[in-house]
Amino acid sequence: MFRPFDAPIDDFWAGNRKALTVSQQRGLDVFETSGACSKCHLVGVSVWPNALLSDFGYDNIGAPGGSTKDPGLGGETGLKDELGQFRVPTLRNVALTAPYLHNGSIKTLREVIEFYNKKDLEKDRWGATDYPETVNHEDLGDLKLSDQEVDDLVALMDAFTDRSVLTMKKGQRFPEVPEGVPSREERKAFFMEPLPRVDVTMPRRPKKRAE
Ligand code: HEC
Repeated sequence: MFRPFDAPIDDFWAGNRKALTVSQQRGLDVFETSGACSKCHLVGVSVWPNALLSDFGYDNIGAPGGSTKDPGLGGETGLKDELGQFRVPTLRNVALTAPYLHNGSIKTLREVIEFYNKKDLEKDRWGATDYPETVNHEDLGDLKLSDQEVDDLVALMDAFTDRSVLTMKKGQRFPEVPEGVPSREERKAFFMEPLPRVDVTMPRRPKKRAE
């Protein structure tokens, strides 16, 4: 679903400074600095030829709970401190995929970003989360972003939308995988088990597992 990386952000990173609006450029700055979104939604390209906007780690950001409790990673590993952790999703084409979070508990991107910014201050605004004991309060919840910075981050999300996805016809398939992209088997071998905060310098060949 990532291919073929023809979103405005890709043009911008390829050197076309006009590919992003002024607001989106400010948003990118917030994304990488005061908002620290890029700590988990990576903008670096060490892993892949293009930024995938995920570090493939797992975290509990405290999503409002659904009708049933979802243990996430902890349900697979049986480890208590991984209850409620979910894989950091890519933000590519995120503007097209509402509702948000693993249980669809947040309806709009603006609300997701307000959640990151103020969740710990406006406790009653969002429903109780399933596993409060493992929530990450360090990186989110009280970011102290201004309304303008929130607007800019919301605007930035549109810069992650691939042109080819927008113009795709129903039933149309993506072009073949370009040269140099690891095969499905290679990817599976690399991500063969859930690893919290994996080492993101992904080798072209699967790593030997530590015994
Ligand atoms: C500590 C790691 C971390 C940081 C920092 C972080 N995110 Fe996330 N993000 C996640 C995880 C994990 C999820 C999935 C949570 C879930 O489904 O319960 C997520 C989900 C999202 C989603 C919803 C995606 C979808 O398809 O449902 C958006 C949008 C998003 N993040 C944007 C941001 C923005 C903007 C920032 C900065 C203000 C940010 N994130 C900072 C880890 C992080």
